[in-house]
Amino acid sequence: MPAAPKPDILAAFEAAKGFMPVDEGLALYGAGVEAGELGLPLLEVGTYCGRSTLLLADAARQAGVTALTVDHHRGSEEQQPGWDYHDPETVDPEVGLMDTLPAFRRTLHKAGLEEHVVALVGRSPQVAKIWNSPLGLVFVDGGHTDEHATADYEGWAPHVAEGGLLVIHDVFPEPEDEFTGQAPYRVYLRALESGAFTETSVTGSLRVLRRTGAGI
Ligand SMILES: C[S@@+](CC[C@H](N)C(=O)[O-])C[C@H]1O[C@@H](n2cnc3c(N)ncnc32)[C@H](O)[C@@H]1O
Repeated sequence: MPAAPKPDILAAFEAAKGFMPVDEGLALYGAGVEAGELGLPLLEVGTYCGRSTLLLADAARQAGVTALTVDHHRGSEEQQPGWDYHDPETVDPEVGLMDTLPAFRRTLHKAGLEEHVVALVGRSPQVAKIWNSPLGLVFVDGGHTDEHATADYEGWAPHVAEGGLLVIHDVFPEPEDEFTGQAPYRVYLRALESGAFTETSVTGSLRVLRRTGAGI
């Protein structure tokens, strides 16, 4: 039977702001539990308000490892005012810009998972540039432009340990199905074509790949 989070964690996931459906969340959780067995940290790119972070945090707690999550907390292109995915509650009225860090911290606190997560607040390529240790899992769910998705792949995929997992969200092979562009799909193809990763599961738009070769 696949690993499943406890009901309170699943309820917290469903209550948190965010876009990930439950079936994809369960697949992410299962990947986190499996990758946690490597004894290495699990890293997410794209925290937003912590909906998916909760699941990686719970998987990390079980494995006795740490979940890391990277975000500048100013929102992606499609989350800005005037765009379909904008939520006015995420705007800091004093600064006039999105700030999802307070909501993220509330999400984690309410679920009792704060101690299992290290939040890296900054631009993903800038953090990746100074990162130098192996990861059990990398979950790519940051910016959906080619520029951002490619930078996330190039910055973080090299750190996935042998046997570790690369999880990519919002992979839409058919252009008519996509909501925020096909850059994640192009990155997914690139990972497969590199020969370094082999697909292990598909759930909705979530793809789980395992590192089975060197390089990216
Ligand atoms: C789709 S949301 C993540 C959703 C989240 N994983 C969930 O399931 O609830 C994408 C997030 O990526 C962040 N982001 C976009 N580009 C980024 C970049 N270059 N560096 C860091 N964060 C970035 C945005 O601020 C946004 O919060």
